[in-house]
Amino acid sequence: MIPSERIPRAEDIPVQFRPPTAELRHYLAGGMKVWNGPAADVHSPVPLLRGEAIVPPRIGSRPRLSEAAALEALAAASRAFDRGDGEWPRLSLEERAALVRMFVEAVRPLREHIALHIMWEVGKVYDEALNEFDRTLEYTLETVDAALDLDKRERRDTSLQQVVGRVDLLPIGVVLCVGPYNYPFYETLTNAIPALLMGNAVIIKAPPLGGLLYAHLLPLFAEHFPDGVVNLLFGESEELLPALMESGDVDVLAFIGTSRVADRLIGLHPHPHRLHKLLGLEAKNAAIILPDAPVAITLEECVKGALAFNGQRCAAIKMILVHDDVANDYIARLAEEFRRIEPGMPWENVRLTPISSLAHAEWLSDLLDDALEGGAAVRNPGGGERLHTLMRPALVTGVTANMRLFSEEQFGPLLPVLRFTDETEALSYIKQSRYGQQCSVFGADPVRIRRIVDPASRYVGRVNINGKCQRGPDHFPFTGKRDSALGTVSIEEALRRFCISTVIATPEYEENTALWKLLF
Ligand code: G3H
Repeated sequence: MIPSERIPRAEDIPVQFRPPTAELRHYLAGGMKVWNGPAADVHSPVPLLRGEAIVPPRIGSRPRLSEAAALEALAAASRAFDRGDGEWPRLSLEERAALVRMFVEAVRPLREHIALHIMWEVGKVYDEALNEFDRTLEYTLETVDAALDLDKRERRDTSLQQVVGRVDLLPIGVVLCVGPYNYPFYETLTNAIPALLMGNAVIIKAPPLGGLLYAHLLPLFAEHFPDGVVNLLFGESEELLPALMESGDVDVLAFIGTSRVADRLIGLHPHPHRLHKLLGLEAKNAAIILPDAPVAITLEECVKGALAFNGQRCAAIKMILVHDDVANDYIARLAEEFRRIEPGMPWENVRLTPISSLAHAEWLSDLLDDALEGGAAVRNPGGGERLHTLMRPALVTGVTANMRLFSEEQFGPLLPVLRFTDETEALSYIKQSRYGQQCSVFGADPVRIRRIVDPASRYVGRVNINGKCQRGPDHFPFTGKRDSALGTVSIEEALRRFCISTVIATPEYEENTALWKLLF
């Protein structure tokens, strides 16, 4: 059992890591608005001991906005865009880039505040939360440079078949950005900023966990962007998003979450054919371990890949496929690694922290029970034990196709292991999966690795050799096949997803050529 002493009392928390509180009563809908309606308390998944009881501390509250407030934001965004005639879409890219850069510089001093919010709201290790902040700002500034560069490259005259033309990258309209809790800052802004930069108006639905940090961003959005260009909503997705989608006035859905919710939202749009979509969905990334895999690297990358931020990463390794010749050895070594990893508090030097919510922690326990009831076994002593949101990682063998852990995305510190004797069995797992985000292959023989990489790259969006699955570096395209994603994001490709290449052309009659020279 996990001893209850593992959970601190409020007074045990080092002063610099004490929870920040935010009582948020504003939202953005064509400017800063005060919300006088109901508010929802926000509790941290990081539990504290009060007397003998384990309590999730209250760390603030945020508006529980109504459908009417969501529609107010939508009307403001539509007005600000005005079919491309709005002030924001008509600014030059250079002007928008300058405003985005100023926004970034205004956000920069908030580094520690935002990281502390991320830590308390989603339970992320403090240093990783700082890293999320830094990575987001870096991504934003690189996106600005990439946009200017892209524009320069595209806007050149091209003459083909006696027609001269040039391409303008013009915005699409109103972009609804719905991000996940696991990267509440990074995954939302890396969609919202490219969308803004290209001239769109955005509606950001703050994530359910990780929404309080937007209390700091809200005044900065209001200050740096014209009214209606950035709208920011807080509340329950099921109360806000259906009305937005049913209106037909959302032009782009930039969504990171489950395919079930994405399908529902898309299905509500009255003109689905004209809805642009950028979707990051579930994954069940597998790591294939070949007999000649480099042991130290394989262990390090598989453990990191499976357990970084408690496995609550879309790109986490969620299945190990190990060759029978080395399976016993790897299972023993991984079990030993897992045994040594104890959950702790996010300000401590730990790898595992509280799971993002009690409901998700309970769901993970059910997922594990389902496998154990079917005959699977946990290989590390104490694996899967749980105290409130603190959960020991579990290495699970004997998983079969009828168990949920075989095919469902766990998003937590449970790692199933399957054995294979023939590489085609391992490849078949990846090929038959609903999901096709990434996979990893660990080995040394180039011929054998090649035999995996070639087919695997037809099944998934990225194949990692002797390395964990991951989104970064952010210049690489991040995508997935089948049910894992729609569209690709990278610094440049995200920009392309938020614009439409618009052509101005003329047949090259002498008169037209002279006119063209006067025009451009
Ligand atoms: O959950 C999303 C991604 O996994 C975040 O990026 O894999 O580079 O940490 P990363």
